[in-house]
Amino acid sequence: MFAYSARRRAGGGVLLLSLMVWWGVAVGDAGAELQQRGEYVFRIAGCKGCHTGKEEGAAPLAGGRRLETPLGTFLSPNITPHPEHGIGRWSLGDVSRALRSGESRESIHLYPAFPYTSYAGMVDEDIQALMAYLERVPKADKPNQPHELPWYLRYRPLLYLWKLLFHDPEPFVRQAEKSAAWNRGAYLVNVLGHCGECHTPRNIFGALDRERHLGGNPGGIEGDSAPNITTHPDDGIGDWSPGEIREYVRSGLLPDGDVAGGIMAEVIEESLEYLSDEDIDAVVTYLRTVPALED
Ligand code: HEC
Ligand code: HEC
Repeated sequence: MFAYSARRRAGGGVLLLSLMVWWGVAVGDAGAELQQRGEYVFRIAGCKGCHTGKEEGAAPLAGGRRLETPLGTFLSPNITPHPEHGIGRWSLGDVSRALRSGESRESIHLYPAFPYTSYAGMVDEDIQALMAYLERVPKADKPNQPHELPWYLRYRPLLYLWKLLFHDPEPFVRQAEKSAAWNRGAYLVNVLGHCGECHTPRNIFGALDRERHLGGNPGGIEGDSAPNITTHPDDGIGDWSPGEIREYVRSGLLPDGDVAGGIMAEVIEESLEYLSDEDIDAVVTYLRTVPALED
C-alpha cells in the first residue's frame, strides 16, 4: 500500500516537474522572442543613436548625446533600467505615455526633440516588445544633464501649449484599400523610422509642416540639411528605381555611386541596415507613393 502510493506520488511529482519544465521553456521562449522583437523595434526606431553619447566608450543608452537644433542643444537622458538615473522604475504604461504623449513618469512635458510626434502611432505590441528589450539592457549609473536652451524655452509648461497646438497623438490607421506592404511601409517610414522628423520641414515653432510631408528640410538637424524624398522627379527621388531606393536604404549607396553622408549614414548604419528584406520592400513601396512636392 505504502509502496504503491509512494510510486504514485513519485509519478505525479515527475509529471508535475516535467510540466513545470515545459511551462518554463514555453514562457522562456516567448520571453526571448518578445525581447528579440523588441530589439528590432529598438533598432528601427533608432533609440540608441540619440540616447548614447558620442565619446569613446560611452555606455549605451546612458544619455548625454548632444543634439544640436536651431532652438538650442538637447542632452538626451539615460534610458537604461537604472532606478534613479534611468527608467528602471517606469512601467509599461509610463513608457507608452512618453512615446505617445511626450509626458514623463513624473508628468513633465517632454521636448519634441524626442520624436514622440512620430512614435505616437506605435502599436501596443511594439511598445510592449521594446519595453521587454529595454528592461534587460545594462544599467548605467549616469545622471542626466540639463539641456542648453535659451531661457524662454526652459519653461516646460509651455510645451503643454505647444502640444495642444501641434501634437495630436493618434494611433496608426491602416488604409484598407492599400496593400499590406504599403501599410507596413507607411508605419515604418512615418512611425518607427520617423523619417519625417528630419525630412519634413518645420514651422517657426519647431513643429512639422505636415503639408510638406517628406518635402525636405534645408535647416536640417544638427546642421545637416535633409533632402526632399517625395516622388518629385527632379527635386525628390521620383526618378530613382525601386532597386536604387532599396540599395540606398540598405547600404547608403547613391545611384550616382556616391554614399550617404552625415547623419543619414548613421541612420543607415544603426537602423535601416537591420531592416528585413520584406520591410525594405515595404519602405520602398510606400516611398514610391509619397505625393511629389517641389523644393
Ligand atoms: C532624435 C533623438 C531621439 C530619439 C530617436 C529617441 N529619443 Fe528619447 N529622448 C530624446 C531627448 C532629447 C529626450 C529628452 C526630452 C526632454 O528632456 O524633454 C528624450 C527623452 C526620452 C524619455 C524620457 C526620459 C526621462 O527621463 O524623462 C524616454 C523614456 C525616451 N526618450 C525613450 C526613447 C525610446 C524608447 C526611443 C526609441 C523608440 C527614443 N527615446 C528615441 C531624444 C531621442
Ligand atoms: C536624423 C535625421 C534623418 C532621419 C531620421 C532620416 N534621414 Fe534620410 N537623410 C538625412 C540627411 C541629412 C540626408 C542627406 C545625406 C547626405 O548628405 O548624404 C538624408 C538622405 C536621404 C536619402 C537620399 C536622398 C537624396 O536625394 O540624396 C534618402 C532616400 C533618405 N534619406 C531616406 C530616408 C528614409 C526612408 C528615412 C526613414 C526610414 C530617413 N531617410 C530618415 C537625414 C535623416
